[in-house]
Amino acid sequence: MQQINSFEAYIKAYQNSIDNPEQFWDGVAHQFHWTKPWETTLEWNFTEPSIKWFAGGETNLCYNCIDRHLPTKANQTAIIFEPNNPDEEVRKLTYQELYIEVCKFANVLKSLGVNKGDRVCIYMPMVPEGAIAMLACARIGAIHSVVFAGFSATSLADRINDSECKILITADAVYRGDKLVALKNIVDEALANCPSIKNCIIYNNRNENINIVPNRDLWWHNLLVHISAENTAEPMDSEAPLFILYTSGSTGKPKGVLHTTAGYMIYVGYTFLNVFNYQPQEIFWCTADIGWVTGHSYLIYGPLLNGATTIMFEGVPNYPNAGRFWDVVDKHQVNIFYTAPTAIRALEAQGTQWFEGKDLSSLRVLGSVGEPINEEAWQWYHKNVGHSNCPIVDTWWQTETGGILISPIAGITPLKPAFATLPLPGVQPVLMDANGNEITENDVEGNLCIKFPWPGMSRTLYGDHERFRQTYYNTYKNYYFTGDGARRDHKGYYRITGRVDDVINVSGHRIGTGEVEDAINTHASVVESAVVGFPHDIKGQGICAFVIITTPQENLEQEIKETVSKIIGPFAKPDRIIIVPGLPKTRSGKIMRRILRKIAEGDISNLGDVSTLLDPGVVVEIRRLAGVFRGGI
Ligand code: WT7
Repeated sequence: MQQINSFEAYIKAYQNSIDNPEQFWDGVAHQFHWTKPWETTLEWNFTEPSIKWFAGGETNLCYNCIDRHLPTKANQTAIIFEPNNPDEEVRKLTYQELYIEVCKFANVLKSLGVNKGDRVCIYMPMVPEGAIAMLACARIGAIHSVVFAGFSATSLADRINDSECKILITADAVYRGDKLVALKNIVDEALANCPSIKNCIIYNNRNENINIVPNRDLWWHNLLVHISAENTAEPMDSEAPLFILYTSGSTGKPKGVLHTTAGYMIYVGYTFLNVFNYQPQEIFWCTADIGWVTGHSYLIYGPLLNGATTIMFEGVPNYPNAGRFWDVVDKHQVNIFYTAPTAIRALEAQGTQWFEGKDLSSLRVLGSVGEPINEEAWQWYHKNVGHSNCPIVDTWWQTETGGILISPIAGITPLKPAFATLPLPGVQPVLMDANGNEITENDVEGNLCIKFPWPGMSRTLYGDHERFRQTYYNTYKNYYFTGDGARRDHKGYYRITGRVDDVINVSGHRIGTGEVEDAINTHASVVESAVVGFPHDIKGQGICAFVIITTPQENLEQEIKETVSKIIGPFAKPDRIIIVPGLPKTRSGKIMRRILRKIAEGDISNLGDVSTLLDPGVVVEIRRLAGVFRGGI
């Protein structure tokens, strides 16, 4: 595939991609393997919305990730598995070995009656079998829905039920640091309420004693006995659904973001190669979990599409100590390292002694993803991890965009700390003013929209196209609305400032305020709640909940926190609960979060106009109860 190798080449490619988008993407698509060529490159309208890329064509993502490389790269390592416990064994799978495992598992799924278009839920730790399961689904045309293995039983069940998954793939348990997470127990609790699940496949990761439900539960290793390793990748329509990935919106119910085959493949393949300026033989390490879109696009699919070597790390940044990331970089001589600002800030707080004795000289490119990176963290990362000679690519994108949209091209785009810089070829970002018009000048701030399709964009929300339209294509007619605010400097560089909707970003995890409120409200003593984000030194944003209760009770705050942990997952646990007598509401009953956000931030000097409130007195009371609370740790 063609790689951009100078800033002039980027400018030229960008201009070309805007002047002749179809020709541009045709050129990229030709670099992949197709079983049937496409008839039209792009058909679209943002009103319905309806977006089709490479319609009429047939291809297979798994084939392009694996089979295509076998003639030249059979013995090259595809996946390096680094276990949670550094004393346990590293596993390496070559492209040939990965091919065999994926073919076998594809046959397992077929033998269990999984057909094209069926949904398969994957609730797995960060082990190669998670990747094998995803690739096997793509190979047979089943739609995978990976659920992050930090989600609770209730969240898992909701996601399985929303897309009526037929099979659930999981593991007995996983260690994260020194904590054992009994995944199969969580699964058993979830499956009590999931009528669509016919079978549960369990990968034996830790040899834990687990409960086996006869006829339903099957061990991964037993299924592999006597299974053929011959499997032909299923030719898939370009627009055939590839995967569903649930993400949070402003209401309680998570959204099943749907991606389709060819456009997603081409987009992540192209962006991986170019953003990271990947060179043959390099070792790429993305620390994201396969349960998030970064894990899909830049841990598995992007690297494999380019025949790269990708690291899968089962552990956490601070186990056995805060030097673990640097141990792994040293041990595997990592060339490209891609992580989240929250991890950088957490490690920064641990001091620089953790770098002592670690050889980081293999590093060539660093990446950041998931939330705005503040300038201080950027500088620390650049100096201590990159020894001031590795470019940092601050990559802005979303679950819905499939791949990176705004980012420097490593080594090519001149950097500016805390700026995601310029759009990638094919991407047409615009800023909108308060009246819904495009802002044409620079040095401005506005709501970030994209005005032309790119191949990796989401096509719908599973089972709810109307919600898809409403959420992304209704605020601004004929634009995709990202939900983010951004600033554009005098050179046209973008800095993403954060969400402008009711979504908060905690440690790079997107959480809907409505989702947390729904969870809090299930507690018997809770009458009503309102959740807002506040600036947090390490997590980026923390969660603050204002809660109205029936009767005071000891330890209620703790109980409410636990309720959220139980219903959504530990990562969504509020940092602070403030019990209040009332919430600031307008006469029409809408909660004025703007006021609560200011109180949570500790910025109570000017709460703005409170005259539209039903009961302005309640604000005085909330302010008193909140104290002068400052965000942070
Ligand atoms: C939201 C999307 C992109 C994969 C991981 C998160 C925020 C993401 C950046 C960045 C500033 C960023 C945005 C976006 N975000 N990357 N480089 N700079 N903000 O995916 O869970 O879908 O969240 O993450 O607010 O809308 P996600």
